[in-house]
Amino acid sequence: MSKLVVTGGHRLIGRIRVGGRKNSAVAILPATLLADGPSIVESVPDIQDVSVYCEILRHLGAKVTHFPVRDSEAPRVMIDPRGLAQGTPPESLAGKLRASYYLLGVLLARYGQAEVPFPGGCDFVTRPIDQHVKGFTALGATVKVEDGIVKARAPGRLVGAHVYLDVVSVGATINIMLAATLADGVTVIENAAKEPHVVDLANYLNAAGAQVKGAGTDIIRITGVTRLEGATHALIPDEIEAATYMIAAAATDGDITVENVIPKHLESVSAKLAETGAEVEDNGDYIRVKGNGRPRPVAIKTLPYPGFPTDAQEQITAMLTVASGTSLVTETIWESRFKHVDELKRMGAQITVDGRMAVVEGVTRLTGASVKATDLRAGAALTIAGLMAEGETEILDIEHIERGYERPVEKLSSVGAKLRKIP
Ligand code: EPZ
Repeated sequence: MSKLVVTGGHRLIGRIRVGGRKNSAVAILPATLLADGPSIVESVPDIQDVSVYCEILRHLGAKVTHFPVRDSEAPRVMIDPRGLAQGTPPESLAGKLRASYYLLGVLLARYGQAEVPFPGGCDFVTRPIDQHVKGFTALGATVKVEDGIVKARAPGRLVGAHVYLDVVSVGATINIMLAATLADGVTVIENAAKEPHVVDLANYLNAAGAQVKGAGTDIIRITGVTRLEGATHALIPDEIEAATYMIAAAATDGDITVENVIPKHLESVSAKLAETGAEVEDNGDYIRVKGNGRPRPVAIKTLPYPGFPTDAQEQITAMLTVASGTSLVTETIWESRFKHVDELKRMGAQITVDGRMAVVEGVTRLTGASVKATDLRAGAALTIAGLMAEGETEILDIEHIERGYERPVEKLSSVGAKLRKIP
């Protein structure tokens, strides 16, 4: 495990370009296995979750080729599934990321059976998959978990069905879409997730020959087809990476222009930062955030898209530790996502957690301490806290950060942050 040493107290000023969206990449990479021919995925972020997924695809028999990156180009990956053999991804890889469960939908659609080790990933809370199972079952599969392996089996081709999700689940929406793409007949997903990466996946599938309608609304209709061709598809920008740097700008009283963004996807974050007193300028292709001294306290409630994203909650909580009053942070998506709070408290933050709510009493400053990145976004939050704090902060277990952030030390250093990675 490596650590990050951050020297706080420097305003971040400059430009940062965000990469392709992690949560699109980990859905579209497995989706390419549904096709009979090769696909090219563009703007693939250079992060650990992508490397692990590419390893899994290779293990299953697909040919994965990374194109050399030239200055002006985003990274591209070609996945050729023609050597695909029915198999099980190894626990050592599948256990590293949550999104390995998308292979259930994909392999079930292709082979009528799938065995995938119970997914890993961020371990901030119990993460059930009952809605995925409900969808697969409606499409005709039987699903059981044995010895830590999820086993799904269908008697033949999956059959389209009507699925009403009891909770708005991004993962279940995506997994059912993947399974239904090659099913016989029409599948309707009601109460579907509307996140932009659900739309991104639908766009890839449709480019490859699928018939998916309504992605981005809460009813998605998938008419099954018998085969998909490969397609070339560029991933949308990562709005959580963008949100993290926007918050870092406001938190350090800095001035960062975040490039390669879709501002519409960031409206809830932009609006909240403006409420804290930061200046937020949306210019179509980029968003500029200028800090304005000590942030004002605000109330945050995480919600499914287009509400404030849970994946930016930990970062903005870090910023609110130094607000000029008391902020309330309510987490409605995950039953508890407050592991970062104990670490922030080591740095002098005053936070009380009661169930799904954190009461953050602003202090005048944080002080550097030794803290632990307990998960991906907690790591991002502690990095922001370290950038704001007086003195040096040592963040342990930063592999969690590298799972989902592309070259964070390089990007932050380019805008004046003082931080170094110590392997
Ligand atoms: C996705 O996780 C993201 N991960 C998460 O991002 C994100 O926090 C989450 O969506 C919510 O936006 C990926 O896309 C790989 P859900 P997912 O199914 O799909 C409950 C990050 O930091 N639920 O939308 O696993 C669940 O407990 C990561 O990048 C069920 O009850 O989340 C939660 O309360 C962390 N049964 C709510 O739904 C189910 O079968 C939303 O979960 C599935 C989910």
